[in-house]
Amino acid sequence: MPKRYIPNDAWSRKAAKDGYRARSVYKLMEIDERFRLLKSGQTVLDLAAAPGSWLQYVSKRIGPKGLVIGFDLQPIKPIAGNVVTFQADITDTKAVNTLLQEHVKQQTSQASLTSATSPTFNIILSDIAPSTSGIRDVDQWRSIELNQAVLDIASRWLRTGGSCVLKVFRGADFDAFLREVKADWKDVKIVNPRASRDRSREVYIVMKKPTTIKP
Ligand SMILES: C[S@@+](CC[C@H](N)C(=O)[O-])C[C@H]1O[C@@H](n2cnc3c(N)ncnc32)[C@H](O)[C@@H]1O
Repeated sequence: MPKRYIPNDAWSRKAAKDGYRARSVYKLMEIDERFRLLKSGQTVLDLAAAPGSWLQYVSKRIGPKGLVIGFDLQPIKPIAGNVVTFQADITDTKAVNTLLQEHVKQQTSQASLTSATSPTFNIILSDIAPSTSGIRDVDQWRSIELNQAVLDIASRWLRTGGSCVLKVFRGADFDAFLREVKADWKDVKIVNPRASRDRSREVYIVMKKPTTIKP
């Protein structure tokens, strides 16, 4: 019989004990506690959701009247209740838009969704990470490229005043990226959650969508 896998760091052990699929759930928990993001009945989009710990947490926080939609390159094992998932590359923003439009059209009878043409989500989350090459600058640049796609989708689908959470790798291009974000979004804050690994270069950006946003 294969040996049972025992995670070797405290956050991963805690996640396994608490029934979450990944340690990254504690980063979202900390951000949620600090910024009071998630509320009952909300509609939430998670743009890099596998294996699904953020979906598990969001699902509980928004309750049965809410809806959370998750996208990832990887398949996501089903989560019961108010969770819908799609396997897709989020840099193909056309495909993401089509999938969301079709889903919203089907669901317009549901109170938590509006129409297929108006912004739909109260919150957009992204914990996106490129598959790392080990070359610092390349990985950081890929992280920024992925986040440009997240911002495109958020500009289209997030309601005015809604919150967006991004994960970005720090590096040579980080300051320029942050300047761009600050020019277009409001209440931009940087967070280093306790559950991020000590040597990690990742940071989270939490911000709100203003009334107008440059296309
Ligand atoms: C750190 S994991 C997300 C963990 C997730 N928040 C959770 O709690 O389970 C980063 C994810 O980004 C996904 N990803 C990377 N590039 C992507 C892309 N172009 N489109 C969709 N997902 C992508 C990866 O497949 C990976 O599952």
